[in-house]
Order: sequence, then structure tokens, then C-alpha cells
Amino acid sequence: QDITPSLQLPPVIAHRGASANAPENTLSAFRLAAARGAKWVELDVMLSACQTPIVFHDDTLERCSNGVGNVADYAYMQLRRLDAGSWFAPEFVGEHIPSLAETLALLKQLNMGLNLEIKPRQGLEQATTQAIINILKKTDLNHLPLLVSSFSPFCLELMRLQLPHVPRGLLVDMLPNSWQTQLKSLDCVSLHCDYHYLKAHQAKAIKTAGYMLLTYTVNQREKAQELFSWGVDAVFSDKPDLV
Ligand code: G3P
Ligand code: MG
Repeated sequence: QDITPSLQLPPVIAHRGASANAPENTLSAFRLAAARGAKWVELDVMLSACQTPIVFHDDTLERCSNGVGNVADYAYMQLRRLDAGSWFAPEFVGEHIPSLAETLALLKQLNMGLNLEIKPRQGLEQATTQAIINILKKTDLNHLPLLVSSFSPFCLELMRLQLPHVPRGLLVDMLPNSWQTQLKSLDCVSLHCDYHYLKAHQAKAIKTAGYMLLTYTVNQREKAQELFSWGVDAVFSDKPDLV
């Protein structure tokens, strides 16, 4: 099977940026990831009420900002005024929730690659993916290595139909029995799974089938080394320098 071998993944991808040392999914976290030697970052993208794709993990604002309630209820103008840094540490006060567009520009400047996880609020799968596609269509992707992933096969199918040349990865927690059928029908290049559930024989089967295998979230060097010995191509880590 010949699946885009052109995509060169580094062994470690900074999960939500260097998120052990800076507030996750912020420009500071991406800059710190670069400063600590990471070549790629992973980040989560969801939709504001005004249909702007933003970089944020949770459906609700409380954990990672000083806002209250659902992300999807606020226009980006409102979300941008929130403090997305001081929940993490006082020195990050004033950090804002980034838009996808400004993040793409920063990553290009930093010369980094990107695993963009489409993280729609339930029911907003189509709108979220379409808004992301609209941004990606306006972006020069020549100098931005890009792999798009999602837990939602629906989002990946929409990506496949509209941006077939952007490589796709299927996200799962535990490996489903149907993994091979799903990867094939979505024309994915990679499978991304939670390492806690992964067995060596499953890793071998995925690699033998010709797919890249990525696992999250690995913050221990010994665990990363064991996974690499199983054939895992890349691990997502909150501490990219440690691993
Ligand atoms: O993309 C890997 C990982 O980020 C998936 O889970 O919840 O951290 O977005 P989560
Ligand atoms: Mg993620």
C-alpha cells in the first residue's frame, strides 16, 4: 500500500504546544514548543458563535480561561478578550485564545509542522469542518506540513471530499475492530490512539497495513521508547523536550 510517504513526522509532537510549561493551545505554548526543539505541534480547533475556527480544547471556558459557559455561545470578539493564561501561571496573564488563522501564520514563521485536530462541539461537525476548510483553502500550505485528524469520521470524510490532498488521520481512544475498514474508506494515512490501550501486536498490524501510527499522550521517556520499539512513528507529548 502506498500512502503518502512524503509526510515526514518527527518522533515527538508537542501536544497542545509545550503544554506542561505554558497554557495549552496558546501562542506561548507553540512558541515554547519551538524553543524546546519540537518540530511539530498538535492543537484542537473548534468554532465560535460567529463561525471563526479557534484553538481551544474544551466545549466550556472554565478550565482554560477566565470565561464562563460554552465556547460556542460567544463570538470570537468576545472570546479574544478573555484571559487564557493566568489559570496556568501568573506570568501568562493576558494570553488570548488564538484563532486558527493567526496560529497558522505563527507556525509558518516558526517553521513548524501541524497536526490539526478537528474538535467540533457535538452537532457542529459540519459547520466546524467547513470553516476550517475555508481557512485552509486560503492558506499557502506549501511551507506548512499538515496532518488533519479527528475522532469524527464525518469530519474526516468532509475533509476528504473538499481537500483530498491534505493527509488525514483517524483518532480513536481504544483501537476499534473496524480500524482497517475505517482507515481505508476515509483514505487516511495514519491512526492516532491512546497508548494506554494499545498492544504491541496491534501496533504491528497497523504498521504492516502501511499506516503511520501516533499515540497520545506520552510524558515519560521510557514509555516513548517502548512505543517506538513497537513501531510507533510519533508520540504526542506535553513535554516534548523531556521525551
Ligand atoms: O490528537 C491527540 C490528542 O490530542 C487527542 O485527545 O483530548 O487531547 O484532544 P485530546
Ligand atoms: Mg487534541
